[in-house]
This record gives sequence, C-alpha cells and structure tokens, in this order.
Amino acid sequence: MVNNLRKTDPINPSEKVLDEASGIIRKGGIVAFPTETVYGLGADATNDSACLRIFEAKGRQSDNPLIVHISDFDQLSEISGGVSHAVLQRLEQVWPGPLTIVLPNRKAGKVATVGLGTVAVRMPAHKIPLEIIRRSGKPIAAPSANKSGRPSPVTAREVVEDLGDKADLVIDGGKSFFGVESTVIQIRPDDILILRPGAFNAEDVKKLFQMKVRISGMQSDSPISPGMKYRHYAPSKKLILAPDENYILEKCESGGNFAVLGSKELAAKLNCETIVLGSRNDLYEVARNLFPSFRMLDRGKFEYGIIEPFEERGIGLAIMNRIRKASEG
Ligand code: TXA
Ligand code: MG
Repeated sequence: MVNNLRKTDPINPSEKVLDEASGIIRKGGIVAFPTETVYGLGADATNDSACLRIFEAKGRQSDNPLIVHISDFDQLSEISGGVSHAVLQRLEQVWPGPLTIVLPNRKAGKVATVGLGTVAVRMPAHKIPLEIIRRSGKPIAAPSANKSGRPSPVTAREVVEDLGDKADLVIDGGKSFFGVESTVIQIRPDDILILRPGAFNAEDVKKLFQMKVRISGMQSDSPISPGMKYRHYAPSKKLILAPDENYILEKCESGGNFAVLGSKELAAKLNCETIVLGSRNDLYEVARNLFPSFRMLDRGKFEYGIIEPFEERGIGLAIMNRIRKASEG
C-alpha cells in the first residue's frame, strides 16, 4: 500500500491537492502528476538536490537531461535568454501543448540540464501541472514517471507500479490523453531537427515553422538528445517488430507462447492471443494503448511479443519510434 496517492479531477482539480503538491515542490520534494502526454515526475528545476532525487527514484543515467515545464511565457524568458521574437510567436500558437524546444539555458539547474548549456522547455496542456507550476512559482523539471528503461506511465497505477513510495506525492488525474511523450525539437540555421518524434506531429512542426524538418536518430546520426541512445520504453520481455502482416499470420499458424500486439483489424484475422491496440484508422487510439500494452505483455503468461508495424504518418511516426526502441537489443 502507498499512502502518497491523491485522486483528483483533471479538468477541475482539487485546490487542496494542488496546494499540497506545490508546497512539496517549493520545499524541494518530488511529485508525480499527469500531463496530456504521459505522467511526469517533477521537482523544482532550479533546485539541484531536488532534481537529483528524480534521477535516484528513476534510476536514470546521469547524462540524460530533464524537460523543464513552465506555465506562462514570462517564465520562458526567465529560463532561457535565447528566444527570438519569431520563435516566440510560433510557440504562442502551440503552447500549452506537447511540443518541447531546446534553447540556451539561463536559469535551470546543473542537475536538470546535466550542465549542457541548453534547456528543453515545454508548457503542458494540462491543468494539474500548469497549476502546480503557477502555485509553486517554480519551473518544474519532469521526466516521464517510469523507472528508467520501462514504458512511460499513462496512469497513476503504472507510476506506483514503477516508483512505489519514492515520490512524495502521486496525483491520480486519470489516463493521459496522448499516451506518447512530447515532440522534442531544436531549431538550427537551415532546418529544424526533431530529436524525438512525439505527440506533436512532424507535419505540424513543418507547417508551424515553415522550415525543412529533419528527424534525428536515423541510423548514422549520433544522438544529440542524450536520452535517445538508451534502450527505452520497453517491456521486460522480448518484443519483435513484425516486418509485415504476413509474418504475424504465419507465426500464428505455427504456434508458440507469444502474444500479438496489434490492431483490431489484424486481430479479426488471427487465431492466437492478441493484445488489441485499437484501430489502424485511429492512430491516436493506438498511441494511447501502446505503453499499457507493453505492461500487459509483461504481466501475461507469454514468453515474448510480436507487434504489428503501423503507418509512419502523423502520430504514427512517434508510435513506430517507440516500438523500434522497445524491440531493439
Ligand atoms: O511528454 C513529455 O515530454 C514527458 C512529460 C512528463 O512532459 N516528459 C518526458 O521526459 O518524456 P523524459 O525525460 O522522459 O524525456 C526527455 C527527453 C530525453 O530524450 C532527453 O534526452 C531530451 O528530452 N532532452 C532533455 N533536455 C535536452 C537538451 N537540453 N538537449 C537535448 N535533448 C534534451
Ligand atoms: Mg522518459
């Protein structure tokens, strides 16, 4: 049993819970909360010892920087000195929302930024973190609230499954809306580099900035986003990314102790154990069910999993990025 769990409504959160959470942040504690993407584990981004507790609780590699969450644009200029007017105008169109931008650091601590000189910033589209940031008066550094290497949590139950009572408070505000993390970008002179594809579509990044977009981490690229080099988001069991649907159909014919993770359209054709991710025609549904399906695979009696490939358009790019990371090595 954990006694640090508070349930509250995500649209109309309890004042008491928000005050408790912001008090803990101000005093250097760590709080897990929902965001529109996944659950985060937050601390005052300017407090090094508080941020260190996040690394310890997650078992996170010490060279992997945290995303700093803000609640308004004044905070952006405090955190980073390097935002041009043009970039600011664009951010005003999409924030609050699941887009994270890497900027020169001004105020975030050495631990949160691992001393990089840059800071990744986002304004989450979720009342709970926005209010905790506002009430505490602090920018909040928050990685996903999972144990390092595990799938990101989309419910408070999954946070507790990974972190137990390591957080001072876990706020249960229901299931996260997108189910995959924010898109991390860096603006360069001639293009925009997507360091991590996420809930904000690459097509929309291109439209917003009217610039060429490149996606990092494609084979020979060395990872500029330190977190992308680690095995990630993964179930404990082996996960095989099927090259196509036929591969799965044949595997099911020959049998074995595995589960298929796939669309309901595929499940209708199969005669073997399937964890249904949703419809191929609604990739947002697939995204929301993806990380929970990895956890279901782990809980089940199966030896391993085989997952269907999805189309890499819209949020499908983030889905396939997470599946590839989870099925590597
Ligand atoms: O949706 C999200 O972004 C969630 C919620 C809680 O906001 N947070 C999240 O944080 O996914 P985390 O720590 O799991 O992933 C942060 C990613 C890592 O890949 C990290 O390497 C990268 O952002 N990152 C952070 N600061 C960076 C920086 N200064 N330069 C490049 N990459 C950075
Ligand atoms: Mg993470």
